Amino acid sequence: TPTPIGVKPLMGFNNWARFTCAAQARLDGTRDGYSFQQFMQDQAKAMSDTGLVAAGYTNLTVDDCWMQRTSAGYLHGAAAWGGTSQPGFDWELTDYAAYLHGLGMQAGLYSTSGVNTCQGVPGGVMGHEQADANSLAYWGIDSIKLDNCGTDSTNRQGEFTTFANALNTATAGTGRKILFNESAPAGYGPASAEKYNTMDWVRTLGQMWRVSPDIAVWHPSTTSAWDWPHGGDYYEGGVYQNFTDAVALARYNAPGNANDADMLLIGDNNQLTLPEQRSQFALWSAMGSPLMISTDVRKMAADPVTYAPQLGILKNADIIAVDQDALGAGGYLASRGNASATAGIDVVVKPLAGGKRAVVVLNKNATATTYTLDLGRVGFSNLTCTRTARDLWSHTSTGVQGSITATIGAHDNAMYTIDPGSCGAAAPTGMIQSAQP
Ligand code: DGJ
Repeated sequence: TPTPIGVKPLMGFNNWARFTCAAQARLDGTRDGYSFQQFMQDQAKAMSDTGLVAAGYTNLTVDDCWMQRTSAGYLHGAAAWGGTSQPGFDWELTDYAAYLHGLGMQAGLYSTSGVNTCQGVPGGVMGHEQADANSLAYWGIDSIKLDNCGTDSTNRQGEFTTFANALNTATAGTGRKILFNESAPAGYGPASAEKYNTMDWVRTLGQMWRVSPDIAVWHPSTTSAWDWPHGGDYYEGGVYQNFTDAVALARYNAPGNANDADMLLIGDNNQLTLPEQRSQFALWSAMGSPLMISTDVRKMAADPVTYAPQLGILKNADIIAVDQDALGAGGYLASRGNASATAGIDVVVKPLAGGKRAVVVLNKNATATTYTLDLGRVGFSNLTCTRTARDLWSHTSTGVQGSITATIGAHDNAMYTIDPGSCGAAAPTGMIQSAQP
């Protein structure tokens, strides 16, 4: 039997960070009659054609704006896309889910705990929890992202609990589950009583939750999605900010429980240099974050030669294996050179099954830097013993004693898994919590 959805960090595609719900054109530039549903299906087909589905990216989630609510209170596909004259989704999403299933993928939808979504669509679950959950189950939907908008949020725990119960009721006795992806913790800063309280209940209800703000290519006046800091309202972050927020919550990761640092900006025109794309991928994997691509996969499928570097990052099986490791641990910050996206060296360590460790050495400097990684810092003792270090970018293994020295380019990284062999497993970090039911 295949591993049920959500036991390992989710892998797939979400349109939001790259496209929001603005109407899009076909690759040839034409728009007439091009529906939101067709756009999503074209991304799915491109995921399949590029081999990304085979590499594990099987979930396709459509974010805000796909829905409408009828006057009788039922949830259906939106007639129009983003307030334009372009069509949205079918009335029923049965054929859409079946199309994705036919590609070996899963269908993910979006809603919110309140009445109106963040984009003002009156399609949130409030007051319709059971009917909506029943609709998802009836259509064959596999996952649902629940946002925080459209409610005053004084009863967030109650609202998310009501919907989690509705999902369970909708699938009771069917042998299938709908993955519950909760945005609740994203509403709070990186460390506050409310944040920690929220972390304690979200992990009893769902399989993944957003812990950091919106990563995106459309932040105001941004030219780089690498070092964009929080806005005062905490609703925005670049790669480095979201990494910083998520890595601090490593202890909440476990099998079936994933801190979501938000989407991958790897691919077409996502404002990151190739070294920065490699670093986002290494860091997200080392954190055990879901790996959700947000880019124009259609372009990568149409020109796989041009996009070979980006596809190569996304399909790096050694790094995917770290993200999907059976222990389900989060990665923690073993050292931080400087509290800046553009200076110093950060080291992230992820405990793996079998006493192994994965390590990312991130060079935040604007120039190449030579760094010596002390394996004592990674949690090993008996440092004169020879262990095997596998370089996850070059896919080569070498024997190492005590330390590893590497020269790393600007905003690039070195990533290894270290197998202790007979030298003794790494010390427990005490950071791994038991899985939630
Ligand atoms: C806020 C969420 O954090 C984003 O990921 C996205 O779902 C938007 N809302 C949609 O309005």
